[in-house]
Parts: sequence; C-alpha cells; structure tokens
Amino acid sequence: MVITIDGPAASGKGTAARGLAARLGFDYLDTGAMYRAVAYAVQQRGLPCTDAAAVEALLPQLHLEVVPPRLLIDGRDVTEQLRTPQVAQGSSQVAVLPAVRAFLVDLQRRFAQGRHLVTEGRDQGSVVFPHAELKFFLTADPRIRARRRWLELHQRGLPIDYDTVLAELNERDQRDCTRQDSPLRQPADAIVIDSTDLTAEQVVDLMETIARQRLALAPAFRSP
Ligand code: DC
Repeated sequence: MVITIDGPAASGKGTAARGLAARLGFDYLDTGAMYRAVAYAVQQRGLPCTDAAAVEALLPQLHLEVVPPRLLIDGRDVTEQLRTPQVAQGSSQVAVLPAVRAFLVDLQRRFAQGRHLVTEGRDQGSVVFPHAELKFFLTADPRIRARRRWLELHQRGLPIDYDTVLAELNERDQRDCTRQDSPLRQPADAIVIDSTDLTAEQVVDLMETIARQRLALAPAFRSP
C-alpha cells in the first residue's frame, strides 16, 4: 500500500509523512531529499545546477542510497548537508531536468517494492504512484510556510532573514509548478489539507484518521 503526500515547499510534508508512517508502521520516503542530493553532488563539484549537460553527465556516477531518514551519497551520510537554502534552490533547478526525474523516479518505484510506504514530494500521487491507495495534498499560506522554514533554519544555526526565505520559497514554488516535466499538481483524487491553522500533530491526527478508514476498506489490506 502506498500513501502519497504532495505539496509546495515547507508545507509540512516531511513531518506529516514521518509521523503518519510511524503511526501506521509504514516505511517513509522523502523524495525531496533525493533531488537535494543530486543538487548537493553537483554543487560539491563546483558546477551550476542550471547546467543541464553537466548534471546529466553526473548521474551515472551518482550512487544514492536511501536509508530513511538518512540519505547517503557514495556511502557518506549527507542528510544534514541537504537542508541548506543553497541546496534547496539547486534541487528545484535540477528537478526541471527530465533525465534527473527519470533517474530518481526509478529509484523511488524500486524503493516502494514490497513495502507499505508513505512517500512525500511534488509528483508522488500525480506521476510516480498514480494508483496509490490514498493521496494527500498538503498546503498552507506561503507566509506561514516561510515562517516555519525560517524558524527551522534558525533552530539549526542557519540565520537568514524572513524576507529572503519568503522570496526563495516563492521562487521555488513558481519553478516547481511551471516546469514542463511533472510539475507540482494537486491530483484530482487527492484529499486536500490546508495546514495554515493546524499544528503538525493535528495534521498527522487527521491523516491517520482518514488512512485508518481507508485501510479498513481496502480488501488487499484485510488479507494476511
Ligand atoms: O520537498 P523539498 O523542499 O525537500 O524538495 C526540494 C525540491 O525538489 C523541490 O523544490 C522540487 C524538487 N522535488 C520534485 O521536483 N519532486 C519531488 N517529488 C520532490 C521534490
């Protein structure tokens, strides 16, 4: 069984997906971290994430290993290095490239095999797992999302002013929504949750309630 959570930047997908997966006993996949890992590897080589040819040439050499909640490149744990504003912008730039998307979508589908999975990103319900048993679309007011991201960055010792966070978030959303290949879309069959006035706990509570109702209805899930 696959549960997808898609939505714009800093909408709380990560916290929601981790929380829901823990409550249901499912595995969890952060696909944004995979795009971030590609951007990080590109930036580590001193290349611009907008250089399509350079990014594509790097893919065959890139050994990504997903061991939730950690992500390894060539056996090295880079999870913490992926959460910077620079990597966030780069990830949105490499995410427009069809070769990058094909490479990561293949990894995502292989990861899902034989698991019950909560997976979060931009295209999980629309493109990667169109037949997922349950789809959520999580959103929130951009100013609230920027505030949450600003707080997260400050708590992690990365001080950056709020206006910059908001501007970068809007730029990233704009690129993620307007790219040609797999833009961020609300799947028609997704349940929309607006977390503007909800705590992270309330979002997970709501998702868990809905998921348990759906699980009880899914025949495949009743059989041992
Ligand atoms: O969820 P996040 O902020 O960690 O994602 C980083 C970037 O990766 C995001 O700006 C767009 C891209 N992304 C994507 O294109 N498709 C996904 N399934 C997940 C992320």
